[in-house]
Amino acid sequence: AQGGTLAGKTVVVTAGGTREAVDPVRYLGNRSSGKMGYELALAARDQGAAVKLIATTDLPASAGIEVIRVETAAEMLSAVQSAVKGAYALVMAAAVADYRPVAAATDKIKKGSGEFDLKLESTEDILSAVKGDFIRIGFAAETGDLIANAKKKLAAKNLDLIVANNVTVPGAGFGADTNKVTLLFKDGRVEDLPLMSKREVAERVMGEMAPGE
Ligand code: PMT
Repeated sequence: AQGGTLAGKTVVVTAGGTREAVDPVRYLGNRSSGKMGYELALAARDQGAAVKLIATTDLPASAGIEVIRVETAAEMLSAVQSAVKGAYALVMAAAVADYRPVAAATDKIKKGSGEFDLKLESTEDILSAVKGDFIRIGFAAETGDLIANAKKKLAAKNLDLIVANNVTVPGAGFGADTNKVTLLFKDGRVEDLPLMSKREVAERVMGEMAPGE
């Protein structure tokens, strides 16, 4: 790893789905397992980077990867803000909540009859909020209009690269060991990759940010 293309650089990776408390026993979450982010962390480490992995899920410990555990979108935002200081790149594979309950109930919500209204508010967009001079890579999990939606996110979040994920393809997206992605670059380049292991996707993504390429 010492001679890797990312030697001497710090790469920050996020993994897993955030959880937003509804009451002491319930949360709003999503199906992200953290696998994609974990493979990105391993691939960056194997290219010589010092890796900070900000994760919501329990992932096996691995040498050269510092794991920072968080639960909510707000916790992930503050962990990312500290971790990116002096970093070479931020890679956001985490599935971050766009909405959270306005207030979590302090006691367990009791069963009632009929409808139940839960009031939600927007969370902060981490990629848009985090400022600094580092390579910014996002993921886009889409169920339709993959390229158009991913392009909008690439521009709105000021990214260098967005990895567009059609999560309706069998073997792709949440929980799978494989993924089917299209890389969309800031300069307009588009590269459609075949179904491959998340490890191979991770290596491709890390390869794209090697200096001088
Ligand atoms: O964890 P796995 O089971 O392996 O599944 C992998 C994955 C499907 C979760 C992953 O490949 C993936 O697509 N991650 C992004 C999922 C997502 O939330 O996408 P999005 O389109 O909602 O968000 C776009 C980008 O903005 C993402 O990089 C996201 O991390 C970021 N974001 C989103 C919301 C928010 N409040 N702040 C953000 O920074």
